[in-house]
Amino acid sequence: MLGSGAREHALLLALTRDPSVSGLVCAPGNAGTLAIAENRQVDPADGPAVVALVAEVGADLVVVGPEVPLVAGVADAVRAAGTPCFGPGAEAAQIEGSKSFAKQVMAAAGVATAAAATFTSADDCAVHLAGAPAPYVVKADGLAAGKGVHVGTELAAATAFARDVLAETGSTAIVEAFLDGPEVSLFALTDGTAVVPLLPAQDFKRVGDGDRGPNTGGMGAYAPLPWLPADAVDQVEQHVLQPVVDEMRRRGTPFQGLLYAGLAMTSSGPQVIEFNCRFGDPETQVVLALLETPLAGLLLACATGTLADAAPLVWRDGSAVTVVMAAEGYPAKPTSGDVVSIGPLPEGVEVLHAGTRIEDGAVVSSGGRVLSVTAVGDDLAQARTLAYDGIAAVELRGAHWRTDIARAAAAGEVRLP
Ligand code: AMP
Ligand code: GLY
Repeated sequence: MLGSGAREHALLLALTRDPSVSGLVCAPGNAGTLAIAENRQVDPADGPAVVALVAEVGADLVVVGPEVPLVAGVADAVRAAGTPCFGPGAEAAQIEGSKSFAKQVMAAAGVATAAAATFTSADDCAVHLAGAPAPYVVKADGLAAGKGVHVGTELAAATAFARDVLAETGSTAIVEAFLDGPEVSLFALTDGTAVVPLLPAQDFKRVGDGDRGPNTGGMGAYAPLPWLPADAVDQVEQHVLQPVVDEMRRRGTPFQGLLYAGLAMTSSGPQVIEFNCRFGDPETQVVLALLETPLAGLLLACATGTLADAAPLVWRDGSAVTVVMAAEGYPAKPTSGDVVSIGPLPEGVEVLHAGTRIEDGAVVSSGGRVLSVTAVGDDLAQARTLAYDGIAAVELRGAHWRTDIARAAAAGEVRLP
């Protein structure tokens, strides 16, 4: 397993529940993965170092968690050395690495997405924005860990954001139409041909309650979505996921791994906000908490082109909620080095580590999103209560978290336009 977030901890935890798995190694991992895997201090984005580690431990399958190593071609390097790898090669990872590339693929595949224009000149971009309706959506073209997007109603702020993006030489800014409606994260496993959607989830990207404050990597999530029409997943599979997987194969750059569609449920149906080339964080924590099918076989089937033979997925009844505990100052300037103490947890609750490490035998914080508390309950309300009981069992100086994760959905207040 390559990566060190709560997503990787959740993936490893699911793999420990698979009887076919005999051992787990994580590079670099965190204080949580250390309890279930052997942590190795190898940079996941360093292809040769990863290939050497894979040979040393004799791995049967490599799973790449984050986007940075995928965009850097680490999955290509692992495959070239002869080991099955879950995750797209560098060219296919451009579906996340370049928003303009993703737009081209969607246009070719006939997939509904926000109309967009790309700019390399700040003046041209300013003229375009001045003639566009609010709200304004401006994005930097490359990878930005969820922080390269500006959404707002003020023209001056949108123009200033675009100028900042374009101040960097060689950069591209994208101005998009604003998509209304609740967001859905739909993950699909794929081997480059077959597509198997997982349960739909929703994440909360803004740092504060009521969707206020700056964007983050994600502050919480829940699954499944009680308000989503019953046929929505099939619709997205048919009109978004399968056409994109087919188009990537047609281009000679098949996408293999996890295709993450970020969608807005608009009045004219689901439209794509973005694609990611890997499991999302924190949605993975809730989706995998509900998956009963052994995970290793599924990931291996993606890596070896045999996903069409996999039996239908089995999900446990009920709902899952995860709440991210972030360090003081996150997302602008997170502090680190504070002791994290985790008390007894209620049944059905897991703490998944992200920015943690062991120092003098104690768990201490080492990143912005420190951990996420994931709970499974009979329904969303119960899962929510359990997740927040779990948060109450964790002590971290200066920590903050959202108190409204899944609240509107549990109360039946999420409305489709
Ligand atoms: P992205 O990095 O593309 O996922 O964008 C981050 C967040 O910005 C998304 O999850 C949305 O909440 C918001 N966003 C991005 N694009 C749009 C859009 N075209 N319309 C409305 N909101 C958007
Ligand atoms: N949950 C958002 C992401 O993983 O990019």
